[in-house]
Amino acid sequence: MQESKYCKESFVVKTSIVLPPDTNSYGTLFGGKLMAYIDDVAAISAMRHARKSVVTASTDSVDFLHPIHEGDAVCLEAFVTFTGRTSMEVFVKVMAENLLSGVSNVCAMSFLTMVAVEEDGKPTPVPTVIPESEEEKSLYNSAKDRAEIRKKRRIDSENRANTYGIK
Ligand SMILES: CC(C)(COP(=O)(O)OP(=O)(O)OC[C@H]1O[C@@H](n2cnc3c(N)ncnc32)[C@H](O)[C@@H]1OP(=O)(O)O)[C@@H](O)C(=O)NCCC(=O)NCCS
Repeated sequence: MQESKYCKESFVVKTSIVLPPDTNSYGTLFGGKLMAYIDDVAAISAMRHARKSVVTASTDSVDFLHPIHEGDAVCLEAFVTFTGRTSMEVFVKVMAENLLSGVSNVCAMSFLTMVAVEEDGKPTPVPTVIPESEEEKSLYNSAKDRAEIRKKRRIDSENRANTYGIK
């Protein structure tokens, strides 16, 4: 396995036009559809980094900052910002562009944790990350704090599943 990789090696861009099958009755993109796009680009980015199969372990909160209208172009960018032993934090940024006016907005951002797995589903080690740009360095340096929050959240979720789970 390659020991380290640059963030740019896991960079993914996906652009598509918003069409009626993916919009709600207000003519804006369904939140669930956008979350599926976010998960897609994060998975591709993590696979580019690890060159292994991956599963989504968690998604941090997604705040929908601006609506994405029918006819807009929606563009997602993703790259791996930080890694643990088997997990990768992927940053996803979602932008919408009004193709007639050229006005663009950042509509959402999220961090996902993807875990590299072997064929039996067991987690497997991944290369570390080398940040280069200011944005990459800033996200890399703040990643441990976010990982701590996720660790606590995972324990809370497991406790809740034990308390309120299958009866
Ligand atoms: C994610 C999964 C592979 C973890 O497997 P596990 O046997 O519990 O293994 P571990 O506890 O060693 O966790 C492996 C890594 O995932 C990380 N991880 C696990 N759950 C996590 C969570 N909820 N949030 C963030 N990271 C998580 C661990 O911190 C660890 O990272 P590290 O190796 O970099 O330190 C397993 O829980 C799983 O398969 N979950 C279902 C995934 C899935 O189906 N996703 C699609 C959703 S429908």
